[in-house]
Amino acid sequence: MKKTVSKNLSGLKGSITIPADKSISHRAVMFASLANGKSVIKNFSKGQDPRSSLEICKALGVDAQFLDETTLVVNSDGVLQAPAQPLDCGNSGTTMRLMSGVLAGQGFSSTLIGDESLSKRPMKRVIEPLTLMGAQIASVDGHAPLTIAGQNLSAINYESPLASAQVKSCLLLAGLNADGVTTVTEPYLSRNHTELMLKFMNADIKIDGCSVSVSRSTLEPREISICGDISSAAYFIAAGLIVPNSDIILKNVGLNQTRTGILDVVKFMGGDVEILDKKNVSGEDVGDLRIRYSDLTGCTIEDGIIPRLIDELPVIAVLATQARGTTIVRDAGDLRNKESDRIKAVVTELKKIGADIHETSDGFIINGKSQLTGGAELETYHDHRLAMSWYVAGLVCDNPLVIDGFEWAGISFPEFVGLFESLS
Ligand code: S3P
Repeated sequence: MKKTVSKNLSGLKGSITIPADKSISHRAVMFASLANGKSVIKNFSKGQDPRSSLEICKALGVDAQFLDETTLVVNSDGVLQAPAQPLDCGNSGTTMRLMSGVLAGQGFSSTLIGDESLSKRPMKRVIEPLTLMGAQIASVDGHAPLTIAGQNLSAINYESPLASAQVKSCLLLAGLNADGVTTVTEPYLSRNHTELMLKFMNADIKIDGCSVSVSRSTLEPREISICGDISSAAYFIAAGLIVPNSDIILKNVGLNQTRTGILDVVKFMGGDVEILDKKNVSGEDVGDLRIRYSDLTGCTIEDGIIPRLIDELPVIAVLATQARGTTIVRDAGDLRNKESDRIKAVVTELKKIGADIHETSDGFIINGKSQLTGGAELETYHDHRLAMSWYVAGLVCDNPLVIDGFEWAGISFPEFVGLFESLS
């Protein structure tokens, strides 16, 4: 599907509520399925990826029903059943990597499959450490389909070469069902929703800086209220800062420290971002954000902040085209392993509309401020975050911008266009 976006001439105004966090939604349904009893999940994401996790939990025998559009009731005895068919993770890396940790220690065999993009993404990062725990996983040279013959697992002490919440969470989930204490240490702290939710559900878990340990645990069911997704808010944050005359409020945004790298970066660039009404809900920090159009300057984004804004880098690239001076992104080589090679895609597509942007092995360099031209057709590479980032670019292009494959945005964030239109 092609979508045309035109320059916004009046500024974005008003207030919106940001829809549910996808990372937390995946974990909520998986962990509720592993708990013994009834959990109620409020504000479960409408995005396709968490819905893939939900369908897989159901295929494993869990009773999960919606009371309304986003309130999910999960009844489980904490014991999963052998699935009748391969388990379809769709486009979702989080589903495949976290579920492989759950399935490795079950008393049955199962197969995880995914769409074309997911089947090209690297799974050795979870297969190798799970194998050290005793898991038996067959793959196509480290790619899906993954056929997992459930085994008794033994704990490991794993030094992860990557700051990856998916790898960490996979091993912690396997560790819940393994003999001994499983410890995962990462080079920088990645998002810690798994740790917070396991704690909230009374698992035996210890957190010490970038190391986290778990032992065999039975999770307790809970009522979980899911906050808004800062990765979804990121498109509105960027647009509010670069569309002249904008002044918007984003409500119910998750402000977990391991996810707020974008706020640190935009403040450093001179962005007018105010946090209002901060509170803690179901173990996670939440607040409202006020964003106003700002005069931005470039900055360097590297090291430990990268995992705190990994999914926001495509829209930060758009933002950086509108900042004076040079923005350098480095240490972000894993961007090449996301739903697309996001380094190549961001550089190729933003060049088409007049950005001064250069590819490096582990990031990109942008010289601003550029007047973006538009009048071109940008590709989305089956990648929802690219589709939404190009939409934001279109709001400041001189000529209408055509986005080819815009349906990917709808799959991930069905409320996206409606929310933008309500601010215009
Ligand atoms: C996610 C972790 C991140 C992120 C992905 C969601 C999660 O991946 O890019 O969109 O929910 O754990 P990595 O942990 O592999 O960097």
